Amino acid sequence: MGVSRIKGFADLFPPESTAYVRMESLARELFARYGFVELRTPLMEFTELFQRGIGEETDVVQKEMYTFADSKGRNMSLRPEATAGVMRAFIDSGLAGQQGGVHRLFTTGPMFRHERPQKGRMRQFHQINCECLGSASPLADAELIAMLMRYLHGLGIGGISLQINSLGCATCRPHFKEALVAYLRGQDQGQYCEDCQRRIDTNPLRVLDCKKEACSAIANGAPHLLDCLCDDCRSHFSQVLALLESQGIAYNLNHRLVRGLDYYCRTTFEVVSNNIGAQTAIAGGGRYDGLVQQLGGPAIPGVGFACGMERLALLLPEVQEQRPDFFILAMEESCFPQAFSLAEALRSQGLRGSSNQTVAGFKSLMRQAGKSGARYCCILGPDEVAANEVTLKNLDNSDQQRVSFDAVANHITTGTDHE
Ligand code: HAM
Repeated sequence: MGVSRIKGFADLFPPESTAYVRMESLARELFARYGFVELRTPLMEFTELFQRGIGEETDVVQKEMYTFADSKGRNMSLRPEATAGVMRAFIDSGLAGQQGGVHRLFTTGPMFRHERPQKGRMRQFHQINCECLGSASPLADAELIAMLMRYLHGLGIGGISLQINSLGCATCRPHFKEALVAYLRGQDQGQYCEDCQRRIDTNPLRVLDCKKEACSAIANGAPHLLDCLCDDCRSHFSQVLALLESQGIAYNLNHRLVRGLDYYCRTTFEVVSNNIGAQTAIAGGGRYDGLVQQLGGPAIPGVGFACGMERLALLLPEVQEQRPDFFILAMEESCFPQAFSLAEALRSQGLRGSSNQTVAGFKSLMRQAGKSGARYCCILGPDEVAANEVTLKNLDNSDQQRVSFDAVANHITTGTDHE
């Protein structure tokens, strides 16, 4: 009996894997235009990093991490997101200690959360993640959001909307929390779900984004964060919005957008789609000015986002697989050396293709050629080998002609024989 795949973990073959390559290549190309460099961080970190970075009271840390002890009894976790690891690397590498300057770091790769798998929600999923460190300016928030929207449009993804809110800072958020808790306590306590009954004490902001109907109805009437912002936060947020407007980037103010990770302050945002079932957020992020310091580094502000690649993949226009250019059909074993040389010569000229490596009847070999999807079949029998030629068959229109070995590449590339 075979060994099965783990639930919530996927194997990606083309065309899915091709879609992932496309998402990553556009990200590399576009983000570089904004000054981002690529960083690769480990998939596993000490659990403490996520506890301190993401927050003990978050669902991610409380319920969703894959955590285990190594042989020395140290607690390790598979990364549930990239930001905490990027901050650790930023501090570890000494980059954080350098005076001044803005650092733009981009990462991509698998993340792990033990959630109930469904469409667009996996236990191993992939993020494209960007962090801009060292700028407290609203320009950094707006530039990052502009880049994200340009990226999503560049992928051909439509039907999305940008939701935005400000979570305030250490000065003004406590006032909001107080007002919120007073409001939540004033409601019928029996109506809250079990999680929210606890959250009112531990993390009241999370009640605002609870999806349960009763909690959601209560949250609708809750006070708005934006009404409680201090002057600095209000001014920061209005500048972010003005910069977005200057670029024609549409947004919806979403008073209930609080995000599921504890490190955020000021600007927070999500991009949502109505076309992927229950899992509507395709990207999320925001500002996290205290995080580097909280993890033992200097006081360096930051803002970032991550896109969920599984969810982007559901919205991508169909990816056309690139067809192979040739299939070399060697009719007899004695033709294999020439077939091998021809295949290598064609590849050295940038063409793609393969050849048969065992002999079979002609019909069966032609079927193999057809199945390969190649545009041309180079038939090599003893006659052709003796004449240093191939019979080149166009598999789309069945035209065929004898072509010298040296002219095959040119013929395949241009569709004509320039001998
Ligand atoms: P997040 O909202 O937890 O933020 O995740 C970002 C995106 O990852 C989500 O919008 C979603 O598309 C995708 N995602 C999350 N969980 C899953 C899952 N189980 N299956 C498939 N996709 C999923 C963060 O992770 C922050 N670190 C983003 C950030 C970067 N904030 C600042 N910098």
